[in-house]
Amino acid sequence: LLATAAAVSFGAAAASAQTVGFSQIGSESGWRAAETTLTRQQAEERGIDLKFSDAQQRQENQISAMRSFIAQGVDAILLAPVVATGWDSVLEEAQEAEIPVVLLDRQVDSSEDLYLTAVGSDLVHEGEVAGQWLVDNVGDEECRVVELQGTTGSSPAIKRKQGFENAIEGSDNIEIVRSQTGDFTRTGGKEVMESFLQAEDGGGNICALFAHNDDMAIGAIQAMKEAGVNPGEDVKVVSIDGVPDIFRAMADGDANATVELTPNMAGPAFDALNAYWEDGTTPPKFIQTESRLYTQEDDPEAEYEARKDLGY
Ligand code: AHR
Repeated sequence: LLATAAAVSFGAAAASAQTVGFSQIGSESGWRAAETTLTRQQAEERGIDLKFSDAQQRQENQISAMRSFIAQGVDAILLAPVVATGWDSVLEEAQEAEIPVVLLDRQVDSSEDLYLTAVGSDLVHEGEVAGQWLVDNVGDEECRVVELQGTTGSSPAIKRKQGFENAIEGSDNIEIVRSQTGDFTRTGGKEVMESFLQAEDGGGNICALFAHNDDMAIGAIQAMKEAGVNPGEDVKVVSIDGVPDIFRAMADGDANATVELTPNMAGPAFDALNAYWEDGTTPPKFIQTESRLYTQEDDPEAEYEARKDLGY
């Protein structure tokens, strides 16, 4: 329906300045802030009129924003969905209005016929890369792992957990002993880590922390320091995103590894939309971004310098 119904207006939409509505989750992490900054920049560079809406972590706000974009007759919608379920109705409404929707960084459980494409990483693979790093660096040592999960019900929280568990499955010496959400925030990561430390002999029983994002790891590092535990040495720290502050922590020896997630989801999204507006080119359903592992051996100081002015 999307491709055929919109066919009449391909040339017209491409010729004039396009308007794109962006329903962003909020600003829970440094990574999210960078994604917002880069989306604004990418839109400006391409002459796209971007209508931005901050949902403050609430799905109902995202659904209202999408309905408002539909009523305004935007040329496309970018949606970073806070959770994976509950999108069918509003996606159907966008489709009926012939407005293509592009998912950014998180995924939904809806039928893929309801959106044009999704730009993002392989979220299970990210968890696997983090887990494999731990397997490779623990050896035969008994290792009790604590896990800080992302927002409950979000695709990265579900899939990163699954990927990490896949990676450690064959290692009987590695066990996740505590796992709780820190909601992808620094304060959440710090608070939950404080409770993990208390429950695990002040931290003495913990061998490693897997955090679903860097911000929670950074909050947890602070909690460990305040409790007299040495992050990066007493407790190995592995997380996901590649924000400047985690490279700072790695350079200082407080964190061990991160799996990078590019915050530039909008570049590939706008490229796909431009081709679609131009002549109806249908992009693949999933445009995958790279997931690269960085460790303390990868010159974290230089990586920090390269990222610190990018809007994180
Ligand atoms: O969906 C991507 C995740 O959302 C990032 O890893 C995290 O930092 C963000 O809040």
